[in-house]
Amino acid sequence: MPEPALGSEEMVLAFLAEAVDDYVSGEVISGKLGLSRAAVWKHVRALRSRGYRIEAAPARGYRLAEVPDRLGALELRPLLNTHDLGQVLHCREDLPSTNDLAKELAEQGAAHGEVVVAERQTAGRGRRGRSWSSPAGKNLYLSVVLRPDLPPQRAAELTLVASLAVCDACRQAGVDAAIKWPNDVLVGGRKVAGILTELAAEPDEVHWVVVGIGVNLNASRDDFPDELRETASSLALERGQPVPRALFTAALLSLLEQWLDRHAEEGFAAVRQAWRERSATLGREVRVEAGGAEVGGVAEDLDETGALLVRGEGGLVRVVAGDVRLLRTR
Ligand code: BTN
Repeated sequence: MPEPALGSEEMVLAFLAEAVDDYVSGEVISGKLGLSRAAVWKHVRALRSRGYRIEAAPARGYRLAEVPDRLGALELRPLLNTHDLGQVLHCREDLPSTNDLAKELAEQGAAHGEVVVAERQTAGRGRRGRSWSSPAGKNLYLSVVLRPDLPPQRAAELTLVASLAVCDACRQAGVDAAIKWPNDVLVGGRKVAGILTELAAEPDEVHWVVVGIGVNLNASRDDFPDELRETASSLALERGQPVPRALFTAALLSLLEQWLDRHAEEGFAAVRQAWRERSATLGREVRVEAGGAEVGGVAEDLDETGALLVRGEGGLVRVVAGDVRLLRTR
C-alpha cells in the first residue's frame, strides 16, 4: 500500500536534512512550506521531543545536528531524496532475513524500488551459503526489490552496480573503502559490507531482482563472532566515531539509485570503469576458490561482463563466481 505524503513536521525535517550541516532560516522554511513561523517552531519542538537534536541560532536559523538512531519509516522517509528507491518502505524490528521478506514481496507484485530494512536479522544470509552476523540496532540490513529492464544474463551486473554505491556511501562517511571482487567492500583490508543478490527469471526475462546489502556501521569488536574478528570491521571502528544510521541509509539509497540510472542509460561500460577505479583486487596476486577448484595468479581486469580475469601460469582465466583471497601487491 502506498504510504501517505509527508506531513508538515516531516517536511520541516526534510528541509533541515537537505541542508546537511548548514543552517536554514525559519523564514525560508515557513516561506517554502506555507507555514507560519510559529508553526515551524512548534514542529521543531515536536521533532526535538522525538530525539532529533536541532540547534537554533539567532539570525541563522535551524541546523539538524543529530537524528535518532532508529531505522523506522518515520526516521528514513524525510531523509530520502530518491525517486523510486525507498518510496515504499517496509521497516521491521526483527526479521529472519530482509532478503527473504523482499523476495516474498516481489513474488506478490512489489514495485521496483520497494525497500525492506530490519534492526536485526535472526537468520541473515551471506554469499555461498554463509550466515551474516546481524546484531540488533547497530548496523544496516537492507534489501531492495528491482525490476530491471535487462536480460537475465546481465542481471549479475546489478551486484557490481550496488558495490559501487556501497563503496561510495562508505567513502562519504569518511573511510577509505575499496571493492574486493565481486562485491565485498573493504576498509584497511577488512570487510565492512557485503551484498547478496537473488533473482527470479525466465530464459529471456527477469521478473525481479533482490539486492540485499549488509553494512557493518556501529558494530564493536565484541559484536562480531570470534571467527570474523580478524577479517571484519565496522565503519565506526575504522573512523573512530559512530555513524548516524538513518543518514547513511538515505545516502546509500540515493547513490544506489544514481548508479542504477547510470547503468540503465550508459550500460555496463561506465560501471566497469568506476569499479576498476575502486578496486582492491586488480593488480594484486590472488587465489580464487571457484566451484571446488583454485585459480592463482594476478587479477588483471574486470571484463565486459563483470567476470574477473586472472593471469596464472597457465594463461588467462576468466572467473565468473568465487571467493577471492588477496595475497600481495605486485
Ligand atoms: C556476503 O558478503 O556474503 C553478502 C552479505 C549480505 C548480507 C545482507 S544483510 C541484508 C540482506 N539480508 C540477508 O539475509 N543478507 C543480505
